[in-house]
Order: sequence, then structure tokens, then C-alpha cells
Amino acid sequence: MSERISLLHLTDLHFESSTKAFAIKDQIQKTYRCSKSSYDLEDATMLANWAWVNRVQYDAILFTGDMAETGHIDDLNTALKYFDSNVSDNERPWLLADDFPTIINSSKNIFVLPGNHDRFHHPNRYPNNKKFDEVFSDYWPYGKYIKGGMSTFTVDDNNAVGLSIVLADFSLEKREHGEEGLKTAITRRKFGYYGQGKAYDYRVKKLVEATEKIKDEFPNYPVIWAIHFEPLNNKSTMQLLDESTFIDAVRDNNIACVLNGHTHKEKTQIIDGTLCTSITSPSPFASSLQHKNGFSIIDFYVDGNEIVEVKVNPFIFKGVEIEPWNFVR
Ligand SMILES: [Fe+2]
Ligand SMILES: [Fe+2]
Repeated sequence: MSERISLLHLTDLHFESSTKAFAIKDQIQKTYRCSKSSYDLEDATMLANWAWVNRVQYDAILFTGDMAETGHIDDLNTALKYFDSNVSDNERPWLLADDFPTIINSSKNIFVLPGNHDRFHHPNRYPNNKKFDEVFSDYWPYGKYIKGGMSTFTVDDNNAVGLSIVLADFSLEKREHGEEGLKTAITRRKFGYYGQGKAYDYRVKKLVEATEKIKDEFPNYPVIWAIHFEPLNNKSTMQLLDESTFIDAVRDNNIACVLNGHTHKEKTQIIDGTLCTSITSPSPFASSLQHKNGFSIIDFYVDGNEIVEVKVNPFIFKGVEIEPWNFVR
């Protein structure tokens, strides 16, 4: 008989401080008609409230990157505030003393990995900012690209049922590692690096090593992978470069599920040639006509260390309510 393990999958929150850390952003949005992807305080509060009220529905929370709009310390600290446990009113444990929301008081395991935005620095949004590692040191190992150990959790009292998540950061090391892309009038540089990630060989190797280690340590639990960039994305400016190494590793290690974010758009796909479901959840705060603001609860039905079924339950924000949403896959 299978048991259910559920994750609250949140991604691309894009918190930013009220101070405009990088004013050029508005210019870029104007020039390329990008949707505004920064968070909305009301929606962040609604989500934190929902997560508290519905806490019995999930066993852990997973954030798949773009916690902050940029890697600027003020944006990152605003994102970190969402994990502050210092509430002053026990009747409303999703609000801090200054009414800023927090998601931490559901007392669930929380897993976080960085996205491309979390690593931006400089007005041109160059990659590889390490400030995320400092600010999110409780959640992400400094200077590392993979998080394996301590990302296993159990959902029953006798620890018979559990799940291991290995998290990988495929954001770019150097902007020169990006390919093609837009050339802006302002910088006269190609902007491909802005939205691309890269499945560097050495990181995929470390991901596999961490997976083997966690399987040795917790042989009775299935392992899933979490990354920021969507696999098999054919939009050149959003893709995970060199992804064939990653896809091969998914196949070779029998990974049943990859969770990701980055596109701000819901999607469920089977990774070619494997039985792996890749799931992208919508972003809670990516307001635009094409993007619904939402998130997902993902149910894994596990039998021993096998995932036998994955069910995605998407929710969207509708006015002042959060509602289940059946999208056409
Ligand atoms: Fe994003
Ligand atoms: Fe992203």
C-alpha cells in the first residue's frame, strides 16, 4: 500500500526591498515589455495565511529559487524576513510585529535553493553573486552548488515513510557562459546570461554523488531532485544550457521527479526517455496576462523507496481568495 507525502511547492517569489536596488530594472522591463515579476505584499500575506490555515495538507515546503528580485543584500534580507519566526500575536502566526508576513510557523521542514535572480549583482545583473549564501546560510551551504545532507524528512512517527530531496544550483558562473540572447540598447551587450542556467559537468557529478550518499544513508526513502531552471525549455533565453548531462543523470539515477521554477508558468512534462515527471509551479507574484499567480501542492504516493504516483494540485490567487485551479496540461 502506498503512503502520501505532500510538498507545498513555492517558487519565484522575487522579494525586493522598497529601496530600488537596481533602477535599471524598470528600464529593462520597459524596453523588453517583461512582466513585472516582483512580489506583492498583499499576495505574500494571503499565501502565508493560507499556508498556516492549510498546514495539515503538506509535510514540507520547497522553494525552487528566485527568492529575491536581485542578489542585493536588501532584497535578500526582505526575502529572508518571510522565514522570520518572531511573531508578536499568536492569534495571527503568519504576521510579524510590523505586519510583514512569515511562512515559517507551520513548523514544517523548509528547503530553499537559489535561482538566477538571487545571484544577480551589478546594474546589468551579472551572475554568481554569493550574498545569497550568506543571507540564507541557515538553508543553503555557503559556496556550494548542491545540497544533499539534511534534506531528508519523514512523515510518520516511526520514520518508516520519508522523502529525500537533493537540491542543485545551476545558475551561471560567468556571464560569458551564457549564449546568444538579447542585446540591449543600454549595454550593447548580449543578455542571454540573464535568464540562462548551465548544467555544469562538475555540478551534475556532485548532484549524483550527493544522491548516492543520501540513498546510502536513507535507503528506505525515494529521492527527488529540485533545481531552478526548467528542463527541456526551448526558449533560448530561459534554457538550461548543456542540459543533456543533467537529463542523462536523471535517467541513470532513476529520479522519478524533478521540481523546478523559473518560467513562472505551470507545466508538467515527462522527461524524454525516462519516467521522470518534471513539474514547474506558477509563481505566486508574477502578474501578467499569460501567467497565473499561484503555487502547487504536490502529492507523492510512495511505496517503500519508490514513487508510484505524483499528483499536482495547483492553486491560484483570485482577488482576495486562493482557489484550486484545474489547468489543462
Ligand atoms: Fe523567476
Ligand atoms: Fe529565474
